[in-house]
Parts: sequence; C-alpha cells; structure tokens
Amino acid sequence: MLPEQIHQTITKIHLSKRGGKVFRSFLHLKWCVVLRILSCVGWTSADELYSCSEDHQILKWNLLTSETSLVAKLPDDFYPVDLHWFPKTAGSKKQTQAEIFVITSTDGKFHLVSKIGRIEKSVDAHNGAVLSGRWNYDGSALITAGEDGHIKIWSKSGMLRSTLASQGSPVYSVAWGPDSDRILYTSGRQLVIKPLQPSAKVIQWKAHDVVILKVDWNSVNDLIISGGEDCRYKVWDSFGRLLHTSSPHDYPVTSLSWAPDGELFAMGSFNTLRLCDKTGWSYALEKPNTGSVFSLAWSADGTQLAGSCGNGHVIFAHIVEQHWEWKNFVITLIKRRTMQVLNVVNEAVDVLEFRDRVIKASLAFGHLVVATSLQCYVYNSKNWNTPLIFELKEGTVSLIVQAEKHFLLVDGAGLYIFSYEGRPISSPKYPGMRADILNSQGISLSNDTIALRDKSDEKVIFLFDALTGKAFGDGKPLTHKVLNIALDQCGPLKERKIAFIDKNRDLYLTSVQYAGREPKICKIGSMVHCMAWNDSANILCGIQDNQFTVWYYPSVVFVDKELLPHTLYVKEGSEFARAPHIISYVGTKVTLRQGDGSLVYTTVPPYPAILHDYSSSTRWEDALHLCRFAKDQSLWACLAGMTMASKELTTAETAYAAIGELPRVQYINFIKEQPSKESSLAHMLLFSGQVQEAEAVLLQAGLIYQAIQVNIDLFNWERALELAVKHKTHVDTVLAFRERFLHKFGRKETNKRFLQYAEGVEVDWEKIQGKIEMELSKEREKAANASVRGSMASRR
Ligand SMILES: *[C@@H]1O[C@H](CO)[C@@H](O)[C@H](O)[C@H]1NC(C)=O
Ligand SMILES: *[C@@H]1O[C@H](CO)[C@@H](O)[C@H](O)[C@H]1NC(C)=O
Ligand SMILES: *[C@@H]1O[C@H](CO)[C@@H](O)[C@H](O)[C@H]1NC(C)=O
Repeated sequence: MLPEQIHQTITKIHLSKRGGKVFRSFLHLKWCVVLRILSCVGWTSADELYSCSEDHQILKWNLLTSETSLVAKLPDDFYPVDLHWFPKTAGSKKQTQAEIFVITSTDGKFHLVSKIGRIEKSVDAHNGAVLSGRWNYDGSALITAGEDGHIKIWSKSGMLRSTLASQGSPVYSVAWGPDSDRILYTSGRQLVIKPLQPSAKVIQWKAHDVVILKVDWNSVNDLIISGGEDCRYKVWDSFGRLLHTSSPHDYPVTSLSWAPDGELFAMGSFNTLRLCDKTGWSYALEKPNTGSVFSLAWSADGTQLAGSCGNGHVIFAHIVEQHWEWKNFVITLIKRRTMQVLNVVNEAVDVLEFRDRVIKASLAFGHLVVATSLQCYVYNSKNWNTPLIFELKEGTVSLIVQAEKHFLLVDGAGLYIFSYEGRPISSPKYPGMRADILNSQGISLSNDTIALRDKSDEKVIFLFDALTGKAFGDGKPLTHKVLNIALDQCGPLKERKIAFIDKNRDLYLTSVQYAGREPKICKIGSMVHCMAWNDSANILCGIQDNQFTVWYYPSVVFVDKELLPHTLYVKEGSEFARAPHIISYVGTKVTLRQGDGSLVYTTVPPYPAILHDYSSSTRWEDALHLCRFAKDQSLWACLAGMTMASKELTTAETAYAAIGELPRVQYINFIKEQPSKESSLAHMLLFSGQVQEAEAVLLQAGLIYQAIQVNIDLFNWERALELAVKHKTHVDTVLAFRERFLHKFGRKETNKRFLQYAEGVEVDWEKIQGKIEMELSKEREKAANASVRGSMASRR
C-alpha cells in the first residue's frame, strides 16, 4: 500500500527578536504520511527524492506532480539506516543509467542500489548496524561507520580498501572533508578529524559533554557542525575551534545537514526543525508534530529540505522570505516563484513572478539577477516590468556575483560571465577547476578582472581578464594561503588591486597585473575576519580585532607605507558582539551581522569617497579645500598618498606639511630640484621604496652615474660596483665612497671584489668631485635641450 499524498501544507511566520531588531523568516512546511517509521532520504534532482523505510520499501517522491511511487520492495529482514546518492559530477551527468545510491542496514551490510531499485551489490561490512555510509566528493571512495566502532573505506565498486579507524564505541556519524582527503567522525564525546594519509596529523577534541550523534562538514565554507545528547548544536572551524554553541533544546539533536552552498544548515530534534545560518544563528524554528527528525537532506540547489521523522512522516521544507537590499530597494522572496520589490523612498511595491522556482538571486549595481531552475532573469532597478530572460544550460546555479559592468553565474559545470543585456562575455577556466565548490569568499569580480581562489589548493589565486576569460600575465597564479579574496571596483585595470585574508588572518593587498615580475604583496592588517570594498570608491572596510575598521586608501602602502596607519578609521569595537561579519557596504552605510545574528548598521564618514573622486579627476584644488574644511588628519594623510601616487608634488608637499611629516616635505623638495625628469621620477620611486624600478628608470635614460649613486646612497655597494664595472665608469667613485664609509666605522675592506678593484685604482676626491659635477651639468643641459625641443614641437 502506498502512503497518502502530501496532505498538509502549513505556513507559519516565525518572529524572533534579537538585538532590538525584529526579523521575519519562515519555513514553508509540508509533510506526508507513510505507514512506518522512515529511516533515510536522498534527493536525485531538485524535485525528486528517494526514501527508504522500516517497511522495507524504497519510495520515490516527485514534488512537482506530488506523486509518490514504489521503486522497490526489499526483503522483510532489511532495515535501512542511511542512504546516500553517488555524487553527480559535471562529467557523469548524462549517464543517468550509472546513477546509484548506497543504503546501509542494521544487519552490518551496505548495498549499492540502482535508480530503478535493483540491488547491484551487497557487502558484509561491519558487525552490528552500519550507521553511516557516505561517498566522497568525486565518488571514488565510500566510507562506512559501524556500531562496531570501525570506519572502513571502500572503492567505488564496493571493494574494501582499508580500515581507517577502530574504537571501542559506535561511530554514529561520519563526514568527508572538503577535499575528500580527511574524514570527520564521532567518538563518544569527542570529534576526530583523520587524514587518509597515514602519516598526517590527527586532530581530536572534546566537543560535547555527552555523546555526539551527528556531524556534518561543508565543502564550501570548511565549517563543521555537531550535535548530540546534550541537546545542543555547535559550529566549529576545521581546526576544532568553537565558533558557536546553541542554547540547549528540550531533546537531543538527532540530525544536522549543511545546505550545499554552506550559507545555511538545518537541525532536527524531537518535534523540532530549525534553520540556521552558517554562524549558527537561528533563522527559523518550527515545531512540527513529527517525532524525532532522524535525517535531513538538502536538494542540490539548496532550496528544499527533506527529513525523515520518527512518527513515519517525510517532512519537506523550502526556504522563503529571503531578503536582498540595495540602496532604496528591499526585495523579498514571498513565495517560491514570487518576489516583492519595495522601494522604501516612495513605498512603491512591484511583484515579480517567475515561471519556475527561484534558486538564487543577487541585487547590486542597479540590477537584480534571478536564477530559477531553468532561466535567468535580469531586471534593471529603473524598470521592474520588462526583465531580460535567457535560458540556462545547467539549471543549478550555485552563485551569482555582480560587478558594475557584468555579472557571473556559477553552476556545477563552470562559470560564465554575462553582460546585463544577457550577452555571454567569457567563461574563464583553469585545469582542475571545481566549479561546484566555488563560493563567494573565493571569487571576486570587477569590471575588468575575475579572481578565483582554487579550492583544492588554497595557496593559489587565479586572475583572469573578465572580457576574454584569458589568464593575466603569463598565467602564473598568485601564491599565498588565502581564505577570502576581493577585488577593488574603481579605477583603471592597471591600478586594479586584490585584497585577501590569509590563514593567519592577515590582510594583504597586491596588484592584479604584475606581469611576469614577482608581485609586490603588502600587508595592511592583522586579525582581520572579514572585509568588503565600497562599490564606488576604492575604500575597504573590515573587522580587525573585533573593531570595525576602514582603510580609506589601502593603496597608500605602495606609495608610502608609513602613511597607512594614518589613513585608517577605527570605530571602537565594544558595540560589536563576537565575530561580526560584513554583509554589505553601499553608500556610507555598512550592514553587519553580529555573532548573535542581529543586524547592525554603521556609517562611514563621506569625505574619503569625495577625496577619491577628486583624486581620480585630478581636482587638487578641490581636494585641498575639502581637507582644510574637514580638518581630519586622516584625510590629509590620504591626500598625501594620492598626490604622491599621481606625482602631484606641490599638493603633496602641502599635505605632508599638514600632518607634520617634515622629512617627507624635504624629500619632496629634493625631488623637485632634480635636474631631469628621469631623476625626479627615480627619486619618487625611491620615495615609495621601489629601488629596482628607480634604478631601471635611470639606466634606461642613460644616467649611469646617477644609478650608481642611488646604490651608493642605499649602501648597495656590490650593485654599485657591478654597474660601474659593467659601464666602465665611476669605478673610482664607488671605491672612494666605500672607503670613506668603512673608515667612518673603523673597519677594513674584506670584500674580495672591492680588494681586487682597489689595486689598480687611485682614489682622488678632487677628480671624483669634478666628474660628478660634470655628470650633473650634462644631465641639466640634456634636460634643458629636451624641454627646448618640447616647446618648439608644441609651437609647431
Ligand atoms: C564599469 O563599467 C560600467 C559600465 O560599463 C561603467 O559605467 C563604469 O564606469 C565602469 N567602472 C570603472 C571603474 O571602470
Ligand atoms: C561608497 O559608495 C557610495 C556610492 O554607492 C558613495 O556615495 C559613498 O560615499 C561611498 N561611501 C564611502 C564611505 O566611501
Ligand atoms: C644640447 O644642445 C646643444 C646644441 O644644440 C648640443 O651641442 C649639446 O650636445 C646638447 N647636449 C646634450 C647633452 O644633448
């Protein structure tokens, strides 16, 4: 006998009050009665679910047609425990006949079952029940955990590879690490992370006060959730550091499951279903009359959730009431196929209807991009009536990222950039790219650039030209251990910067175009937990050591790194609870979510953005007026940096004087007095610590003596001598300065090369001074000739 059809639909609004703000969110629940206790569920597609129950039946649920059908009837002594579908990878998508799932049972076996319900293979695996069976991400291995305390690894076809661990107590739950190279399992009150490689280090920690029943590990955000008989759930990072603990529930936590994109997870307990975001904050709590929710599974697109319940129900939930905000627009997904747009300025409301279920949406830069299961809709915020619509190949968009000029969609198969007119622009790729695990922290888009952090190797950032999809430079990726990356959004490509946070929580900045050379990577912060660029000026904000910090002009590190600390704005952190993260930074308004889930808004002074604007349009008089008016030292420091970057020395002098940097003022005067353009440029580069570049400028202009002198001034003796010898000039000058230097410190020459050249050379200071004078007057004359030529050319 088949179960009744879905017979109840309940929609509830859940209000929760946090930090003085009220949030509305709800889960839309449906549930369906089957005859006996149900044990396990697994999705085959966005709308199709398989379940297997103690009544020995494998059932198929179609959510589009609301039909339930019997797939197979299993032997009477068969009691299932866990069910997991073989992963769908991009390559194997077309071979539907190869689709299988693993089902584990109380008699110590696991079974490989085909989609039509045929048992392809049964394997004796454990003594007592097999409590969990999970495929790794590429389907090359299966892991099983048993009541007998063993954890075993099997090949795709069910051959035993090894016993990975053995302990005296049952292993209730097991999960694969993001790269399928480690597993996480329960061991009583402990959690254990064990690498497959035998020599690698095991991490183990006491996670709960009593037995742990469920764990899950997300491949996108690398976070772990655990829950157990202490009625709490906890969120951990993969080093075992605690990020969140829930307050205790009334009953043990019996199920936990991450949504595929790692933004949300669901928790089940007796008559309880909870939806949480990745920080552990609870969006919604439902109290369905289901008994204990024993297992939970998300559909691949992350929009629907199914659970098997102790009273024999399968519970279905899908997420609605998601919000997107941008400037004066608040958009809400009110039903699965309906959005409401509220313009808070004039209270106008528009309703957007979609043919299919909404899977992902993004609102920024004046455009709303919505991916449904089959199509992509692009709305301009000036007109909500006529969206541009195009068909999607893949149907499971997992991420949308916007820039001002274009946006990008990520699905299981790849990543695609489209213009807001719906035209495909490019589709960057690198060998071994896994689009299925790209997340918002590992991907960044600007008008001209796309940056991707390779997940299988977190040390690498790939940079592509957004317009052509080709890798920048020689295609050599940037190497650094990174967690989080973000491109700045303004200015031309040659000034494009990427900011990233590494494993030690240090914040760095570097140029996107470093073409062949070693990139110059500058550290601009430490203990940084998150960051975001302003959308219209290259201003960065972040949480540094629990304090909200704004880097008014991060690129200043490339010009004068001493200025960096003077260009920061730090808001005292006391008002932020633990681990806040930045949700958006639009206009002068920054939205943060605190550790307890509440949203807080903070504002940033408007002047730095205006200053950026003046600087990019070289309106230096206006910039000076602004700084005088605002009387803010950090603005003067920004202006000093901006003017040096633009080689606007006169304004720079004023700005440095305003912040009392007199040595810098003197240096600028020295630069202004240089006899030629090339020498000024070289000294400006030296001002920013770019020694090699400065030398190159001089050598290229044929100013050999000047290049040598720069090295002498920096005590780069070997380089000075090398240049002198190579160009057969001023060897005596180098030797003379070297001798004077050693003499001053009462030391003797020990360097072999200097000893060798000193032999045949007479040091005569008078002669050397004369030569130097001559070099300088030659430089002056040449510069004067050039300027005469220049003015004659312009007269013509
Ligand atoms: C980015 O592209 C948009 C649209 O083409 C353009 O209006 C804007 O000025 C660009 N921004 C930058 C910094 O180039
Ligand atoms: C950020 O960008 C907005 C434009 O969206 C601009 O009006 C604002 O001044 C900027 N805010 C800051 C603090 O730079
Ligand atoms: C400058 O111009 C004069 C006259 O045209 C010429 O004799 C002299 O060699 C030039 N000097 C340099 C350094 O090019």
